[in-house]
Amino acid sequence: MTMENTLGLGLVRQPKTVLFGPGQRRQLGRYARGFGTRALVVTDARMATTSEFAVLAEDLRECGLAVSVYDQAEPDLPRRNVMEVAETAGAVDVIIGVGGGSCMDLAKAASAVLAHGGDVRDYFGEFAVPGPCIPVITIPTTGGTGAEVTSLAIVFDEDTGMKMAVADAHIEPAIAIIDPELTLTCPPGLTAATAADALSHLVEAYTAKPKNPSPEQIETQIYVGKNRITDMFCEKGLRLMNRSLARVVENPDDLAARSDVMFAAYCAGMAINTTGTAAAHAIQSPMAAIGHTSHGFGVGALLPYVMRLNLPYATAEFAEMAHCLDVADAAAAPEENGRAAIERIEALLEQAGTPLELKSLGIEERHLDQIARSAVKATRLVLNNPAPLTEDAVRKVLARGLAGDRSWWA
Ligand SMILES: [Fe+2]
Repeated sequence: MTMENTLGLGLVRQPKTVLFGPGQRRQLGRYARGFGTRALVVTDARMATTSEFAVLAEDLRECGLAVSVYDQAEPDLPRRNVMEVAETAGAVDVIIGVGGGSCMDLAKAASAVLAHGGDVRDYFGEFAVPGPCIPVITIPTTGGTGAEVTSLAIVFDEDTGMKMAVADAHIEPAIAIIDPELTLTCPPGLTAATAADALSHLVEAYTAKPKNPSPEQIETQIYVGKNRITDMFCEKGLRLMNRSLARVVENPDDLAARSDVMFAAYCAGMAINTTGTAAAHAIQSPMAAIGHTSHGFGVGALLPYVMRLNLPYATAEFAEMAHCLDVADAAAAPEENGRAAIERIEALLEQAGTPLELKSLGIEERHLDQIARSAVKATRLVLNNPAPLTEDAVRKVLARGLAGDRSWWA
C-alpha cells in the first residue's frame, strides 16, 4: 500500500532567523536588541545558576537591555508557570526561552498571554491566538524536543489533569539560536531521552499520512500531513542521527557529534511543525500519566511496536528510510528494506541506551485498556498515523510492548 501526496504539497512554518553553530549563543544580545530594551528570560532553576546563563544575561545587559528573569519553569510545563509569568512580567519587548522543551514552550505560551491578556486556557487549541505576540527567542540546551522552532506550546492544566496545546503560527519563535556547545554538559540519561524523542519525531513525520489539505485546512489546521518540505528535513535528520547518535553516547565531549544530533533535532522540529507526530506520541501521553516516565523514553520504547503496526501501511516510506540509514539493499523488495530501516532505528535506540519495552517503564497489563481508551482521543495525532489507530490497535501495540515482542505483524 502506498500513500500519495497528490497535491505535491510542501508547507513550512518557521522562525524568521535560525542561527546554528558552536558559540553562536554569544550573538544573543545583538539579536535581542533589535526588538527593544526590555528582555524577559524564562528558564529553570538549575540553568539559572550556571555560568553559561550568567554570561547570556550579561551579554543582554551589555547590549543595552534591561533583563528580568523567571527561573521557575518546571518539567511538563504546568499552567501555573505560564500564569505566574503573565502576572509578574510587566511590559517586555522580547521573551527569551533558555533550556529544554518546557522552558521554550513557556516563552511561547507567555508571549500569547502577555500580548492578548486572559488565561492561557483561552488559547488552547489550533489557531486560537487572535494576533501577533511578543517576539520570542529560543535557545535550546538539549538536542531533542525541537521546541526551538515549533509554533506549539504544550501546557499541563493541573485542574483538569490534561496536557493541552497552544498551537498557533502567532507563537512561532522569531529567532532560534541553536548552539551545540550548550549540550556538552547534558547528562547521559537526558541526552539519550531527548535523542530518542527527536528520532521518534523524524520517524513519525516521515511515515505520517499525507492529507492533501484544502486551502481552508491549511489556514486553520496546524498539521497538514507529510509533505515534501518536511520530508527533506526528515531525510537530513535521519542521516545525521545515523552517523552520530552512538558517538554522542560514547563520548559526550564530541562536539562534532553533538552538533549533528542537535541539527537532527532541529530538522525533526521543522518536520513536526507542519506534519505532526503520530501513534507513539498519542500513546505516550496517557502512558506517562501512569508510569511517570520521561517523554523521550516513552516514545522511544513505543516506537518498535508502532513501526511494526505501520509497516504494511507505509511500506514505501520505511523502505525510503532505509536509504537514509544506509541499510538499503537495491535488490531487495520494499518490505525487506522497510524492515531493515526499522531494525536500524532500534539499533540506534539501543546504542543510546533507551528502553525498548514497556515493563521497565512501570506499565502493567491492567493499565492497557485505560491507556488505549485515552490514546485514541488524541485525534490530531491519530489522523496522522498511517495504520488506522483504533483502540484495539493501540491495545495490541501495548501488549507487544509489554511482552517485548518484536516479531513482524502479519
Ligand atoms: Fe516528542
